[in-house]
Amino acid sequence: MRIRLKLSIVLFATVLATPAAAASGLDLRWLWDDRCADCHGHSGDFARRFLSVTGGELQGRHHVHNLRQFMHNHYLAGNEVDAVLNMLLAQANNPARFKGECAACHDTAAVFVRNSLELRDGVLYSRDSGRPARDFLVHHRQLNSDDASFFVNLLTRVAHEVYRP
Ligand code: HEC
Ligand code: HEC
Repeated sequence: MRIRLKLSIVLFATVLATPAAAASGLDLRWLWDDRCADCHGHSGDFARRFLSVTGGELQGRHHVHNLRQFMHNHYLAGNEVDAVLNMLLAQANNPARFKGECAACHDTAAVFVRNSLELRDGVLYSRDSGRPARDFLVHHRQLNSDDASFFVNLLTRVAHEVYRP
């Protein structure tokens, strides 16, 4: 009994000693769908509806200044808290333009990224054509240059959430 207890303390200490920024490689959008969506629906809809951003800080309705602490103890068991917070922060900060202008043909941004796009050295490419997504987007759906930049940034962010090191 005592030996077992000691062993679990050592294991626990090892987990704590792992740098918080260590990437798990886990697809964050998958994580959300797997562990959070049953209660909260789509992450972007949830973030825009129930969360807000003040001075760069993501705030809940009930957990205003302690959202990070709340999330530690709320279905994440301490894992990926910062990554999920950053994902929700970006969504709360951005209008739901992908849903409004693209999802009818491409499904959600996460599904579209997984099916059709890839990152190479941080740049977003079409998986099929091998061309940079930006080159394609300036000729797609009559997007102007600002719109194309907006969607390239959005999809690149989602690709970083989906394809993690
Ligand atoms: C079984 C249902 C359930 C699951 C699963 C669940 N939540 Fe929640 N969540 C709730 C309820 C209920 C609340 C409201 C509680 C509160 O605000 O104190 C909430 C509130 C929140 C809030 C907002 C708090 C606020 O102040 O407005 C965030 C952010 C959140 N959950 C994130 C997550 C994340 C991330 C996951 C998945 C890892 C998750 N939840 C999984 C039920 C759930
Ligand atoms: C009416 C349907 C429709 C809408 C709306 C739409 N697309 Fe497309 N999209 C397509 C089709 C069809 C293709 C296939 C390639 C083509 O058009 O040559 C495509 C291809 C793409 C590609 C290249 C994917 C690849 O595999 O090479 C990107 C990136 C893209 N769309 C982004 C967007 C974005 C961002 C929006 C929203 C502003 C959007 N699309 C809205 C139909 C649509």
